[in-house]
Amino acid sequence: MKFIVYNVRDDEIPFIEKWGKDHKIEVKYTTTTLTQETVQEAAGFDGVSCLQTIPYSKELFDAFNKMGIKYLSLRNVGVDNVDLAAAKGNGVQITNVPAYSPESIAEFAVTMALYLSRRVGYMKQQLDQNHQFHFSPNFMGRLISDQTVGIIGTGRIGREAIKLFKGLGANVIAYDKYPQKSTNGQFVYVKDLADIYTKSDIISIHMPATDDNYHQFNHEVFEQMKDTALLINTARGSIVDTNDLMYALQSGEIAGAGIDTIEAETADLQDSRSTKQVSDPDVLKFSMMPNVLITPHSAFHTSESVRNMIDISLSNLMTMVNGEKPKDLVN
Ligand code: NAD
Ligand code: COI
Repeated sequence: MKFIVYNVRDDEIPFIEKWGKDHKIEVKYTTTTLTQETVQEAAGFDGVSCLQTIPYSKELFDAFNKMGIKYLSLRNVGVDNVDLAAAKGNGVQITNVPAYSPESIAEFAVTMALYLSRRVGYMKQQLDQNHQFHFSPNFMGRLISDQTVGIIGTGRIGREAIKLFKGLGANVIAYDKYPQKSTNGQFVYVKDLADIYTKSDIISIHMPATDDNYHQFNHEVFEQMKDTALLINTARGSIVDTNDLMYALQSGEIAGAGIDTIEAETADLQDSRSTKQVSDPDVLKFSMMPNVLITPHSAFHTSESVRNMIDISLSNLMTMVNGEKPKDLVN
């Protein structure tokens, strides 16, 4: 049995090598992005592991079929970028890692909320751009305990975020398309999303990207939000209309945004050895704004996450190649 791991970062390598040694399985790794052009590198391997936010296309799964590759193990949660129908049509089984560390993403969403609430971007701008190091009335922030936090999506990550925001004393309201039975007295569900939009000081998105929430945050929604509100998106870029968000921030419809996920993420975003300068005009504009914290889809990135992403995904691959049913089967 031998596996190939695509899109590897240097911080993943020790975990991959340890897993291979512990399980006595040959695991080759490459920094190559997985596409229909690069899939040839997987010839002769029994299974493929990958982590990327660019699409896994029909053409890719057609190529899998031609090469006789039947197993793809994703090292991440989201499957919105996978053509699942094409995978099924080509007889490719796919697993993900649904819970490698929900705390890591939740903690990052709270980090963004704190950065924006305490106006750290304004302090950085004064020092980094104006080379001034003194108080300013512009630095006066708000306590989280003074704010209502609206959580959209109360699954694994959303519930961890609720715990953390509650720990900081926030009033938490939440919306979920499929609400949980119990809220453990931690938060209240609103029936209508408009309540989240109009009542929240901070909105944090924790739902998967689906067809029905594409550009859910658009001009109409930004108009309903408080002009002091902050929007945190560590979920998926497609949920927020980037142009409308830019307008909302520039016109003062909302006060700030934490953007870990943005539309049109490129393969370069995940190339940890890349030396390319960012050219996306939206990313460049957001990066200059003191009321925005923009990060390269890195909310997941803790040592706990990386270890679990490798261990669980390679174990899923081994289970599939052994002909058994893995617990994290997606299709
Ligand atoms: P989960 O499946 O445990 O929870 C998702 C919740 O969203 C569920 O309760 C579901 O009912 C709800 N939901 C689905 N569609 C909805 C809709 N249209 N409106 C409201 N609620 C809806 O998933 P999770 O582990 O909490 O992850 C959530 C998302 O976070 C993932 O799908 C992924 O896109 C994203 N994510 C981002 C990072 C990162 O590094 N930025 C890392 C991991 C996951
Ligand atoms: C996920 O696990 O869904 C993420 O968004 C993490 C990313 C590295 C793909």
